[in-house]
Amino acid sequence: MSKNSNILNWESYNDLSLVEKGNLISHLPHTLISQQFKRTQINELCRLASKIRFICKTKEGAYYLKSILCDKRAMLYFAQPSSRTYLSFNAACQILGLDTMDVRDSKTSSEIKGESPEDTVRTFSSYVDLIIMRHPEGGFAEKIALMLSNTNREIPVINAGSGADQHPTQALLDIYTLERSFECNKGIDNKIILFSGDLKRGRTVRSLAWLLTLYDNVKIIFSAPQELQIKSDILEMLDKAQLNYVVSENFSEHLSEVDAIYMTRLQDEWDSDNDTNEIDRKKFQIDSSHLKKMKKDAIIMHPLPRREEISTSIDNSPQAMYWRQMRNGMWIRAALILKTFDRENKIYDWEK
Ligand code: NCD
Repeated sequence: MSKNSNILNWESYNDLSLVEKGNLISHLPHTLISQQFKRTQINELCRLASKIRFICKTKEGAYYLKSILCDKRAMLYFAQPSSRTYLSFNAACQILGLDTMDVRDSKTSSEIKGESPEDTVRTFSSYVDLIIMRHPEGGFAEKIALMLSNTNREIPVINAGSGADQHPTQALLDIYTLERSFECNKGIDNKIILFSGDLKRGRTVRSLAWLLTLYDNVKIIFSAPQELQIKSDILEMLDKAQLNYVVSENFSEHLSEVDAIYMTRLQDEWDSDNDTNEIDRKKFQIDSSHLKKMKKDAIIMHPLPRREEISTSIDNSPQAMYWRQMRNGMWIRAALILKTFDRENKIYDWEK
């Protein structure tokens, strides 16, 4: 864990571009935005995740893993609904022997007595060695992490989803899923990935799109109704990174060329007055008739939860990767936690 004497304050940090923020965070112990990752780090996390998965298969291995971080405690602070992310982080902590505590509703904390959210999280930091947090406010995890980095108790913060802007650990598990799926097909380089659904407000797509810029010659197709299309800030970022993309309102015309389809649900919890449920999304749904048009080894992903965008009739197809994708989340999060505490050598020790 790094100790820092010269961390920016929130205002100066907030003026930086995402890439500049990523460079700054990469020197800190936190996981906050996908722009902080380099490809070598992602490769290492994927390798570690696979090793943890393998070691966990035997009772001796599982017991050994549980000893690695048994001296640490983690706080799961989830001020927004979550099933998969919460459970997989909790499971990842259990695999590595960390004890966990949680607050899943800020109404049960002293925020209800008028305490500021910053003070609430600083309080948590007195009792634990890691904070894993999900928050409805974009940038809040970054604000908290910078605040802690400026105190004498700099504990790591992992962003488990912030507002409609970032979900870096989902992006990591998505990459791990793509890596594993394309293992015998020359990896992620040169692949075509189609994103569909609510691209405007889906934080998973925003985080994953950046990670894909770290691979060679990847092409992205953003296919969604115009009202839900990807925002210009992401496209500008992809332009700068020279990633080839297409913005399209046609879904079916791309099916035969893609290597992966990444579906997302309507994020109508962000609706104010205009009800996005009225938008016709039928042309952006997938069932077995679409599968027939796709390459035999092309995969379908979804961060879940889903609504009607993927028919349950394809759930047991070998191309439906979303169930395995979910389980991959537990392994890559365990790898990330291990790396956060600089204990990855313990995994290599096991192999000796
Ligand atoms: C996603 C999220 O919370 O952003 N879910 C998840 O973490 N698996 C996607 C979503 O809610 O649509």
